[in-house]
Amino acid sequence: MSISDLNQRFAISGHVTFKEGPGGLTVAEVANGLAASTIALQGAHIMTFTPRGQEPVVWLSKFAKFAPGKSIRGGVPICWPWFGPHATDASLPGHGFARTVMWDVLETRAMADGATFLRFGLVETDATRAQWPHASTVQLEVSVGSALRVELVTRNTGKESFVLGEALHTYFHISDVAKMKISGLEGCDYLDKVGGTARKTQEGAIVIESEVDRVYLNTSADYLIEDSGFKRRIRVAGQNARSAVVWNPWVEKADKMGDFGPEGHRGMVCVETANAVENVVTVKPGEEHRLVATYSAETMA
Ligand code: BG6
Repeated sequence: MSISDLNQRFAISGHVTFKEGPGGLTVAEVANGLAASTIALQGAHIMTFTPRGQEPVVWLSKFAKFAPGKSIRGGVPICWPWFGPHATDASLPGHGFARTVMWDVLETRAMADGATFLRFGLVETDATRAQWPHASTVQLEVSVGSALRVELVTRNTGKESFVLGEALHTYFHISDVAKMKISGLEGCDYLDKVGGTARKTQEGAIVIESEVDRVYLNTSADYLIEDSGFKRRIRVAGQNARSAVVWNPWVEKADKMGDFGPEGHRGMVCVETANAVENVVTVKPGEEHRLVATYSAETMA
């Protein structure tokens, strides 16, 4: 659909318009009385989220590359229908294909509380069917208000069950990684992916002083990103999510990736709401599975 068709069907004054964004990607530009957000139709990728009068909550690399078919460094990439490397075929893209293919806009709505609601649906093609030969649909529902609420909805429309891995791979904007800690995962087992894959147990809050790449398993609580630099706490509240991934590439890995920029890793942390590794989900015929995350920022005394 062209940008003018999108605007004709889905623009709402005081809430959302569609335009050409960086790299020629079509974006939904949301601006209401509560917050602003930019969402690329490629990947249904939330690139920014900034509540009114606050620092951005979501981090987007200043060196992000925007191009058709390439994942954007920052925002909320959607990992679907698998997380990390594919279980049996190493030639398939890491974290699945949802983040790099086109999604349609299905609905936009102004909410009674002043938030803006948008619903996107992944566009199936021969290429997606070749990588995921299961009868299914996947939609992303986004509410942009004083909090950002994201719901990834997978439906099994076929006659066989399938096994799904997924993550809302959110990059958070923080003042400095040295001034940040994450609580809510104390006592959880995790797979430490740095230098092998060892199973460990989290003791105390998470402090990041070197590369961190961990999949926490069988989780349930809210996670709090406490940022003493910005004097704020970002709450990550998940539903139907049994894993959490915490990632910061640190200096060497970030340099190799080429889209973080110098010291880029200092201003971000990924805390991902996920179902991964032993927490993958079986979706039965006719069933719907809904992965939900709500991100809100609170001032710290
Ligand atoms: C994290 C993984 O979820 O994503 C890391 O645990 C990975 O291992 C990171 O490096 C970034 O992945 P990508 O594919 O976006 O560079």
